[in-house]
Amino acid sequence: MKKILIVDDDPVMRKLVSGLLVKNGYQVSEAVDGKEGLAQVINFSPDLIVSDVLMPEMDGYDFCAEVRSRPEGKSLPIMMLTALDSVEQKIKGFEVGVDDYLVKPFEPKEFVARVSALIRRSVSLDKTEVEGRSAQTIGVFSLRGGAGVSTIAANTAIGLSQIWNQPTTLIDLVLVGGQSALFLNQPLKNTWAEICKSPLDEIDDHIVQGALLSHDSGVTTLAAPKRPEVGDTITPEKVSKVLSILKDNNEYLVIDFPHDFSGTTLAGLDLSDIIFIVAQPEIVSVRSATIAKDTFIDLGYNPDNIKTIINWTFPRNGIVNEDIERYIKGKIDLVIPYATDEFVEAINFGIPPAFSHPEEPLGALFEDLAMAVSKDDHRKDKPEEPAEGWLRVVDRVKQRRRTK
Ligand SMILES: Nc1ncnc2c1ncn2[C@@H]1O[C@H](COP(=O)(O)OP(=O)(O)O)[C@@H](O)[C@H]1O
Ligand SMILES: [Mg+2]
Repeated sequence: MKKILIVDDDPVMRKLVSGLLVKNGYQVSEAVDGKEGLAQVINFSPDLIVSDVLMPEMDGYDFCAEVRSRPEGKSLPIMMLTALDSVEQKIKGFEVGVDDYLVKPFEPKEFVARVSALIRRSVSLDKTEVEGRSAQTIGVFSLRGGAGVSTIAANTAIGLSQIWNQPTTLIDLVLVGGQSALFLNQPLKNTWAEICKSPLDEIDDHIVQGALLSHDSGVTTLAAPKRPEVGDTITPEKVSKVLSILKDNNEYLVIDFPHDFSGTTLAGLDLSDIIFIVAQPEIVSVRSATIAKDTFIDLGYNPDNIKTIINWTFPRNGIVNEDIERYIKGKIDLVIPYATDEFVEAINFGIPPAFSHPEEPLGALFEDLAMAVSKDDHRKDKPEEPAEGWLRVVDRVKQRRRTK
């Protein structure tokens, strides 16, 4: 039973609020001002505080500030309930650490809904603190379209999921026109659009989970909205918030980036641990890759975490790796061969090669790539129950050693 502390000097208000909460299954304790409230925070250890603003001994602002300054009150949800309706008052409330604000008189139903949302949010935060997940995030990027970003993102996500059997999410940040879900043959039941119906401060774990699509490989997908005008309404702040929620709930995130440096792209890049720059082996594409790489360095990203992938989306010609490396002033980390039949089939059926043929060269290449960007603490020991993907990768490593 969740415990709620009500702090209000008006006995009628206390009775009304506590009646509502008790009726909805909460355990309630009451305090007549901030001073008494503080004592109760320790004695009653509530899961949520509902506080009035104007009170004789210690007002609501001082009370909240005091709660926030104590270790047991750092992440305790606080709702302010008050007759003061001005914007300044609300801002003052948020400044002292209030999580939510409701003006009297209020609708009982809305009050109860907000209380339950606040508690749900703080419970999911606690849970992630205990589990301590923080997903390794891999961004796939190219300034030019058609280089194979979506292809590589989908296959890397599948590879990661097959190796570790751990929560892995593929995020389509091509918010206008993205097709990640198509690569996995997923009907667009849910997309970013579901998240974007909610204002920024209401986006929580529950809403984000509800927007994900699941795939047989174990990968979940956050797909781009069906309608372009919806994609345009997604702000960088929303992207940051959604990604940090996903980071807390996954071991791996893979981001399919658009071909730009927009605000939402930057929000995603900032949260990426490793970035793949993808280029086709021709001059314009290689030049774009160089610009992208220079920009990443200017943005302060660690060069060691930027990997260059050359993708032969057309048949091989005379260009050799050394020419490209000279041009980009750096080394190529991976070359993906021309494999039009495999990829056309993969797109037509919505089955990426990493999923349909993980033992064949193309699928294996993506699985090995996934292993290379896995968390260090995952790679250092053999998993207790190794997944098939893990066994395949390790077999290939042994084979390569043998043939050397
Ligand atoms: N190595 C490859 N060989 C042949 N075709 C490829 C290869 N990589 C990608 N393609 C094809 O190129 C097209 C563009 O790939 P896509 O992943 O959608 O690029 P982007 O997301 O960068 O626009 C797709 O039709 C894909 O099947
Ligand atoms: Mg794409």
